Parts: sequence; structure tokens; C-alpha cells
Amino acid sequence: MSARSTADNRDQIAYWNDAAGATWAKLQIVLDRQVEPLGREAIRRLAPRPDERILDLGCGCGQTSLELAAEVGPSGAVVALDVSRPMLAVARARARPVPGAAIEFREADAQVEPFAPAVFDAAFSRFGVMFFADPVAAFGNVRRALKPAGRLAFVCWRTLEENDWMRVPLEAARGLLPPPTPVDPQAPGPFAFADAARVRRILVDAGFVNPRIEPFDALIGGTGLDETVRLLCRVGPLGAAMRERPDLLPAAADAVRAALSPRLGPDGVRMRAAVWIVQAASGP
Ligand SMILES: C[S@@+](CC[C@H](N)C(=O)[O-])C[C@H]1O[C@@H](n2cnc3c(N)ncnc32)[C@H](O)[C@@H]1O
Repeated sequence: MSARSTADNRDQIAYWNDAAGATWAKLQIVLDRQVEPLGREAIRRLAPRPDERILDLGCGCGQTSLELAAEVGPSGAVVALDVSRPMLAVARARARPVPGAAIEFREADAQVEPFAPAVFDAAFSRFGVMFFADPVAAFGNVRRALKPAGRLAFVCWRTLEENDWMRVPLEAARGLLPPPTPVDPQAPGPFAFADAARVRRILVDAGFVNPRIEPFDALIGGTGLDETVRLLCRVGPLGAAMRERPDLLPAAADAVRAALSPRLGPDGVRMRAAVWIVQAASGP
């Protein structure tokens, strides 16, 4: 893959092959459980059909690739792309025992992968498209791989402030952490697509037509208190801060546990997630 990667995405490729990728690979089962309703809503809007060829962008550990493969059936195909070797290894292991799953997991940078033109019916992503150094180039590359009237659907986060699932643990631990360094809100990262007007501009500049960007809110979670604390101290903005200061992890975990306890119900800890479900077409 390295020959096809741009220098631009090098930082993200290193990030997803280093601590972040290893963490996601290790926590795959519990993470999937949290975000699967959000991915399923985006798949529902994509409306995959039997026999279709679908791209899964930034497929990670492959949950949505398996779900898409079930929809297109054995005569369809899913090409699932990711830059993270540890996450692709989990995805391949999960897909191996599934009979008839026509999935190719490919280690590739979606921004520069030299796809054959006009071969896919649709492209999908669950939280895998906010990390491109040049989003217009990346979406342009994906659009050219779609057939005429090809469909795009993805789910991405709205703002951190609207997402209790990440905001509450971060705020709980804030007093323990060094002051945050200001970041460019449009820099590659989980919240890079929080501004719907920006997402629309990117898609239009990349040649997509009829962009539709709709808010979707859901209570997500469903895992026990211990498991949720363990997860939310290792992913998202708090997880990133903890990787910088692992010595603070025990105190942060105590603070997060106190903040999450009131949200524990009979079906685990549940918190609000706020996302955009984005759809567009590749054009005539
Ligand atoms: C937040 S994770 C989401 C993973 C998966 N879609 C899920 O929902 O579990 C983001 C994923 O995007 C991948 N990614 C980041 N930049 C990429 C790029 N340029 N091309 C392909 N994948 C990329 C990362 O390696 C990571 O697996």
C-alpha cells in the first residue's frame, strides 16, 4: 500500500496502525455494540440490493462489511478498504467463517487507491471518511469508482458538545488533564465533518450531486458500567488524551465511573449520540 499512499495521509495511517488501531482491534466487540445502530441507520438509507458491488470505506474491524455482504448476497461483492493493518486482521478473521460472504478486505488509502472507473453501485462508510487530508480528492476518487447514478451513504459525528457518549467522559476527566491545545476543527479527526455546510461543499466539489445531510440521534451503549468505563477511557478524545498521559488513567477511570453511574439502566449505560447521515449520488 505504501507506494500508493500520499504523504498527506501519512500521519493518519501511522495513527491507525499504532495505538489507535491496536485499541480498536482489541475493543472491537464492545465498540461495535455501541455504534452499530448508527451504522445500521446509514445502511438502511443506502438500501443495498442483492448482486450489487459496494465499497466500505475505512471498514475498520469489518462489522459493516459483513452486514453489507449479507445484503448483497453471494453474487454481489463488498470491497472493504482500510489503512489499519491490525483492524483489517480482525476483519479478515471475522469474515473467514462466514459462508458465501463475498468480501475483499484491502489495505488501501481511499484517497488515492487507483480504483477501476465506474465499477461500484454504491459506497458506504461508518465513521471512516473524516480522516482524509484532502477530502475533495478522496471523495472525487470514490465518485469516479461509482457507476452513473451510484449511491453514497455514510455516517459521521456531529459536534463533540452534542455527543454525550464522548463529551461526558471527557468532561468528567477534564480537571485531571493538561489544558487542551487548540485544534483546527476541520483537521482530519472524528469531528472534522461536524459542520454540515462543509460536508456539502466537499461532496459538491468532488462532483457528487443531490447531497442530503440529515441529523440522526440515538441513545447508544448497552454495555455494563465497567466495560463502558474501560472503553470510553481508551477511544475518542479522552482515549487520545490517555494515550498521551497513561499515568492519569486510574484517576480518570474513577472520575468517568462516577459520571456514568447515573446513566446505568437495566440494559447497561446509554448515552446520546448525534450524527449526520449523509447521502449523495455520483451523477449521470
Ligand atoms: C473511527 S474508525 C471506524 C472503523 C469502522 N468503520 C467502524 O465503524 O468500526 C475509522 C477508520 O477509518 C480508517 N481510515 C482512516 N483514514 C483512511 C484512509 N485514508 N483510507 C481508508 N481508511 C482510512 C481507519 O484506519 C479506521 O479504521
